[in-house]
Amino acid sequence: MNDPSPSTDAAHLRFDIFTIFPSMFTGPMDESIVRRARDRGVVSLHVHDIRSSAQDRHRSTDDTPYGGGSGMVMSAPPIITAVESTLEDDSPPPRVIIMSPAGRLFTQELARDLSGSRRVVIICGHYEGIDDRVRSILDAEEVSIGDYVLTGGEIPAMVVIDAVARLLPGVIADHSVTEESHSHGLVEYPHYTRPAEYRGHTVPAILLSGHHANIAAWRKAEALRRTRERRPDLLTCFPVTPATSTEQVDAASAGSGGSPGIPATGG
Ligand code: ADE
Repeated sequence: MNDPSPSTDAAHLRFDIFTIFPSMFTGPMDESIVRRARDRGVVSLHVHDIRSSAQDRHRSTDDTPYGGGSGMVMSAPPIITAVESTLEDDSPPPRVIIMSPAGRLFTQELARDLSGSRRVVIICGHYEGIDDRVRSILDAEEVSIGDYVLTGGEIPAMVVIDAVARLLPGVIADHSVTEESHSHGLVEYPHYTRPAEYRGHTVPAILLSGHHANIAAWRKAEALRRTRERRPDLLTCFPVTPATSTEQVDAASAGSGGSPGIPATGG
């Protein structure tokens, strides 16, 4: 899974992933857009087995929690040793992320922010979590992909890598990135392709009209309608009523730096 380091200083994002299940990354990260980004040398993935840095003969990476309680906690020393032996004196220093259901919410805004980094370290938690000293020693930020609990941080790490890799220049067409869901704080309008009628379901006539301005207005209105219906939380910074027009959303969006609904802190 470990990609070669880039030979030039061209824009490139290196991910270092620390996990006790390195083989989980083979497969999902070998297909589709992430594959393309890796083949083009825009992204490289380096997966490190935390267990290789465990110091006892059983190669333990976890222990019982201080203070009692159920479950196990991932120990700090193997993780810190693994991370520190991998990092050089990077300038700027890498972003260090711990995948955790207790973290700040991963959003498109955070994906965009990470896509501007040169190096991102991702630590995948397991069991009840990771000794909190890993966070403080590495000055790491905890990130959650949503309000549910998975068995470990590997799938969340892949979600982050996928969302970031596709934003890098040259990976997918620029207009696909700027027009998609969440890029303007709204979910996307509905899409259709041939045939124009299928099992009695027709494509909205306006999309067949060839009138580009009307189509653009319809798409904006549909994006707003769907956001109101499905994700009203995205509109909480902006008082939206059924009468709110797409022009009002545009104006609010321009005034708030591009996103009408997503709070500036990103959660
Ligand atoms: N590990 C377990 N659940 C998670 C979540 N929702 N986000 C990030 N890491 C996790």
